[in-house]
Amino acid sequence: MAQIVFVPKEIEAGEPRVAASPETVKRLKALGLDVVVETGAGDKSRIPDGEFEKNGARIGSAADAGAADIILKVRRPTDAELKSYRSGAAVIAAMDPYGNDAAVEAMAKAGISAFAMEFMPRITRAQSMDILSSQANLAGYQAVIDAAGEYDRALPMMMTAAGTVPAAKVFVMGVGVAGLQAIATARRMGAVVTATDVRPAAKEQVASLGAKFLAVEDEEFKAAETAGGYAKEMSKEYQAKQAALTAEHIAKQDIVITTALIPGRPAPKLVSAEMVASMKSGSVIVDLAVERGGNVEGAKAGEVVTSANGVKIVGHLNVAGRVAASASLLYAKNLYAFLETLIDKETKTLVITPEDELVKATLLTHQGRVVHANFAKAEPAPAVAPESTETGLDAAPKATAKPKSTSKKGDA
Ligand code: NAI
Repeated sequence: MAQIVFVPKEIEAGEPRVAASPETVKRLKALGLDVVVETGAGDKSRIPDGEFEKNGARIGSAADAGAADIILKVRRPTDAELKSYRSGAAVIAAMDPYGNDAAVEAMAKAGISAFAMEFMPRITRAQSMDILSSQANLAGYQAVIDAAGEYDRALPMMMTAAGTVPAAKVFVMGVGVAGLQAIATARRMGAVVTATDVRPAAKEQVASLGAKFLAVEDEEFKAAETAGGYAKEMSKEYQAKQAALTAEHIAKQDIVITTALIPGRPAPKLVSAEMVASMKSGSVIVDLAVERGGNVEGAKAGEVVTSANGVKIVGHLNVAGRVAASASLLYAKNLYAFLETLIDKETKTLVITPEDELVKATLLTHQGRVVHANFAKAEPAPAVAPESTETGLDAAPKATAKPKSTSKKGDA
């Protein structure tokens, strides 16, 4: 009997995305899997049930989760969802495990094999599976759209018979995937763009997009990039120099978009209340890091707040979800690309090989234990006997204790 892939409707409020698309359903079927999609799962991403059905899915209900071998999700399963899964099922999602030890433990206890897609290593083979990139790219785009929507003026310079409107000045702080797309989008809309980052590699990328780079380029800056390409947490001294440099610049900006993140750590504070106070009334700040504590003092998760001097600080949550139809298509493809590597082409079943570098990087829990090196405790959690060994993994990878402060996103 074919193994079953279940795609639920996300139950978390504010999550409009879905983990499969008509195209990925078709491809999952071609791998020899049965696909069940919960009714309404694609509604908020503009994918009606009928589209899934046409491509070979059966439309079911939440109760179908219990029979699934593989569950594709956007968000980490809630306790209630976990109860509905069978022990031994594989769940592939954005697991957001940092600071959520109890939730990781709960997944281990439920006996599921939980894969955290955000830990996918940034290697060539896994580029098509990189949810951080596919979603951050859209978030960077949407941040500029949101800023433009809140801004009371035009972004491009306009020379008309009635007079000239100057181009908006946009400053992008943090030039990873989201920041680069924010620069490109703001440039396309005719803004004058500057950007900053602590990684030297960002300098050339910013210039190649036609924007100006601004940063404290000292010795610490030269060593700020980890082997995995991520930023390190900068020293207090560096942060002070960075603040002094950017304070003067921010006062002259119309729009500031912040995207700075450090894997496994709270987001660095880059824009102080004084900097906000120095900006003109009607200026807009979009804080894309708000879910991780925020880059901007005064930013509120899920809100647009206006400072005393009339600066709007936009703190939308799940910004990629604001372009859900696009985000879901790309996210679904990322998950399909990964799952395809786990399916044995002859037996058409899921096989988890612990030595595989993609599995090693992403597998959080397996056979009743937390197995990921960044989260596993020295002593194994009480084991739950898996009801099924269909996953093909005989032994869980060795758990190594690692202090959380040194843990990083991905295999960086
Ligand atoms: P991220 O989401 O972890 O962080 C966003 C940006 O904030 C980064 O550029 C980071 O350097 C910057 N940042 C951190 N602290 C800062 C501070 N105090 N001030 C200013 N900026 C600060 O980064 P993301 O988007 O995940 O990209 C990380 C790296 O991975 C980049 O080098 C990117 O080019 C690379 N990458 C590689 C891929 C591949 O090889 N397949 C795919 C996607 C990204």
